[in-house]
Amino acid sequence: MSAAGARRADHAPGLLGALACATLLWPLLAGAAHADGCSVSIDADDMVQFSTHVLRVDAGCPEVQLTLRHVGEMEAHVLGHDWVLARSADVGALTSAGLAAGFDKGYLPPGDPRIIAATRIVGGGQSATITFSTDKLQPGVDYAYFCSYPGHAGLMRGRLLLVGRPRLATNLSEAAPATP
Ligand code: CO
Repeated sequence: MSAAGARRADHAPGLLGALACATLLWPLLAGAAHADGCSVSIDADDMVQFSTHVLRVDAGCPEVQLTLRHVGEMEAHVLGHDWVLARSADVGALTSAGLAAGFDKGYLPPGDPRIIAATRIVGGGQSATITFSTDKLQPGVDYAYFCSYPGHAGLMRGRLLLVGRPRLATNLSEAAPATP
């Protein structure tokens, strides 16, 4: 009994130290996991799936950096993936037009203004990073991301949500004319 008590006493400082360490580290780890909201990443695989069906972007970010990783093994022309952002209402028309455009055009109609942002098509082990302006995104509009590879959009589709305070106030103050 006294031996057990002594052992407990011996372990106490170590346990407290570990708890203190974890308490100190936790905010750092949590911060790293959430990044800054201006940088997001998503995986795609050989099962024709995105790793998430919702991406949240901080509305206060002037630009968003998105990274798509193909974590599968299939080559781009066999089972490639891309990440395309558009209004939800435009996804159907864009996938149809993309099919007609073909692989060499990334299965997207070139220069189509309905495409808000898009990566190239990547194969297994590859990744692509793009940056797009949040000025293109308006509150109250549903935005979707999808893979334009033929037949994928039914499975590979998600919602892009703008969260937090928008940049509108900042933009207005920046746009205000200087008083003479
Ligand atoms: Co795909």
